[in-house]
Amino acid sequence: MTITEDSGARAAINKKHLRTDRWWLGPAITVIGLFAWVAYATFRVFYQGNYWVGDYHYLTPFYSPCVSQGCLPEASLFGRILPDHPLLPYAALSLPLLLMFRMTCYYYRKAYYRSVWMAPAACGVPDGHASYTGETRFPLIWQNSHRYFFYAALAITLINTWDAIIAFQSPAGFGFGLGNIILVGNVILLWCYTFGCHSCRHVMGGRIRHFSQNPIRYKLWTISSYLNVRHMQFAWITLGSLALTDFYIMSVSAGWITDLRFIN
Ligand code: FES
Repeated sequence: MTITEDSGARAAINKKHLRTDRWWLGPAITVIGLFAWVAYATFRVFYQGNYWVGDYHYLTPFYSPCVSQGCLPEASLFGRILPDHPLLPYAALSLPLLLMFRMTCYYYRKAYYRSVWMAPAACGVPDGHASYTGETRFPLIWQNSHRYFFYAALAITLINTWDAIIAFQSPAGFGFGLGNIILVGNVILLWCYTFGCHSCRHVMGGRIRHFSQNPIRYKLWTISSYLNVRHMQFAWITLGSLALTDFYIMSVSAGWITDLRFIN
């Protein structure tokens, strides 16, 4: 058969694809990064220890809000309403919501569709699956729930912010240490990620006909759009900042290091 430009048929090629560059590098780095983070986070949330520094009121974001009966009373601002069980993380109310928020995030979808699902792994590389139904059927139709998880993430980011504010403590009263810088930095980055969410951008600027008549929403939409362009960077940076914050608080709590104090 003669292949013409509009015949609809593909040229017969005896290779899977014609790419000769290292197209697999991006997906490979992504899958390593995601799996490494998930392994660390899984270890930490089931570890059920070294999540709190009492003297300075540092609470790791992986245990916030701490709602298990196993939580220390001073670390649980919202009550200890869940039973203490080794298979139930201390922050079992918030973690599934955050997990779903990230799992359904537009950027992470792109990342794991390419690197884990191979659908497709890269431009010009065939899909790893025989058929393609996109996000139109179960289970991937679930991805459309992202907008609802955005509201949950908003509430949890507010809680993380409160955790960072009330951590300016020392046994003598007001205090300030390296842990505060890490907690506040992490929260700022979490806001950058959350506020740059595609759903947030729609909440800020969607369904209005004239920006000129809604100057505040226009301003918020402009900020969200600015962050949205950098959403991939904040998606990765916040994975790092969450792990770093948790690791620092674990290290201080376990006595491996002491918090560097600027004001005691
Ligand atoms: Fe990434 Fe909403 S699109 S958090």
